[in-house]
Amino acid sequence: MHKETKAITNLILKAAKMARQETSDTPEPEHTKPIQWPLHCTVGPGLEGAIACESRIGYVNGSKGWLIYRGYDIFNLCAYSTFEEVCYLLMHGSLPTAPQLEAFKNKLINYRFLNATLRLLMGFQVEKMNAMAALRLGTNLMRQEFTFMDQEEGRPTTIDAIGSDEDSIPMETIPKGEKQAIYEFKWPRQHKKSRVTQLLEEACGIEACYHLISGVATITAAITRVRQGHMPIEPDPKLSHAANFLYMITGRRPTPVEERIMDIALILHADHGMNASTFAAMVVASTLSDIYFSVGAGIAALNGPLHGGANEQVIHTLNEIGDIDSVKAWVERASAGKRKIAGFGHRVYKAYDPRARILGPLAKFLIKGKKEIEPLFRIAQELEKEVISRFGAKKKIFPNVDFFSGIVYSCLGIAPEMFTPIFAVSRVSGWTARVLEYLQNNRIFRPRAMYVGEFNKKFVPLNQRNRTIN
Ligand code: COA
Repeated sequence: MHKETKAITNLILKAAKMARQETSDTPEPEHTKPIQWPLHCTVGPGLEGAIACESRIGYVNGSKGWLIYRGYDIFNLCAYSTFEEVCYLLMHGSLPTAPQLEAFKNKLINYRFLNATLRLLMGFQVEKMNAMAALRLGTNLMRQEFTFMDQEEGRPTTIDAIGSDEDSIPMETIPKGEKQAIYEFKWPRQHKKSRVTQLLEEACGIEACYHLISGVATITAAITRVRQGHMPIEPDPKLSHAANFLYMITGRRPTPVEERIMDIALILHADHGMNASTFAAMVVASTLSDIYFSVGAGIAALNGPLHGGANEQVIHTLNEIGDIDSVKAWVERASAGKRKIAGFGHRVYKAYDPRARILGPLAKFLIKGKKEIEPLFRIAQELEKEVISRFGAKKKIFPNVDFFSGIVYSCLGIAPEMFTPIFAVSRVSGWTARVLEYLQNNRIFRPRAMYVGEFNKKFVPLNQRNRTIN
């Protein structure tokens, strides 16, 4: 192992030791036993406290600050594993053997190449679009590319394609062939499969999940390049997922340290319980729509500043504060104005977020010699101290995963506008794993809203309404 990457492993193990000293290591039995449906639980607005399904994929204990993937502690996975291994673990339930890992990596490598999708994407003004909107569009285009790749007979002939031009079809004409429009995707029919396998393949398909894990990285890198006025870079099949991702962004093969840090960042963001974007992806999948649409929903939900957008906001906050001496007064003003400070607080964690425990030391490790970013890091350290001393014990507000991730990405040469798409590059593994798991016992999501409106209102025809009538 490279000397400096060994130093990174040691930092993670040190953070793990500190976390274990501060929290107990006994799971809470009531959170880990199988459920007897129907379940009685206390639900708050925003479905807080609601239990929507059982899962064996991940466990978050917010009061202790634990994060577990498939039984493995996040600290150990970051110290000893790789993103590819973690993806396999999340999706298949166990760590791969060497041949399984090799086969899985080869599939991911093959799916890195999205030439048709990128060609289509370049037809849009990607440089002027919100990066997450471009990514969402890209996954839609992947759906089209993959559909046609897999099902040769589904590809329209040139004559059909020309003939199906909107202007040339009279509205009454029923599309030829399939009942659905010719662009509608259908998996090939296979009769001898079990109902579960059939459901999975029709609605999702594990190959499509692999395709998305690889493809989201390729598209994100291409968007980064185009926004900087460059052309996308061809993937390098010899590199790991993390190294190739950085290479496709910068055009330079990363150092072992950069590769290792990117790999850890991807592992850390891979899964996190029923967070908003995962839930959004699962809701779409539960209708038996397909995995590309599900991932598109996840991307849309992740875009919000209360979810994935916070790490970009952290950098803006640090720039706004300006220097260490202004931190105290800035926090006072934010507190007086009831302003939420980006990178702090969490719906689930009421303790130090374990991901921030890892990313903090990594940011400190990377910052050495990075003169432009170092002042921001110093401000971040001061802000962390100030917020914890004000709100830590009183409101259980601590740094979350987004607080240091932006500094880490900045050290890797990535622009703030790309932080949220990078979150998606990792979280796509959790989205797809949870969708695959949920579909095995699928039930369409359908919560209720409590109607608190009126009844028996008299309908007033339009021409008799005036402004005073509601
Ligand atoms: N800064 C200052 N105060 C915060 C805060 C923050 N980042 N997050 C929560 N609080 C305070 C609230 O003002 C509230 O105080 P009050 O009880 O005096 O009114 C209390 O803590 C509870 O906050 P609430 O908004 O109910 O928590 P939540 O569980 O609904 O929200 C977040 C969780 C993540 C949406 C929220 O902490 C937040 O907006 N954080 C900043 C954005 C961020 O970093 N998001 C990334 C999450 S990984």
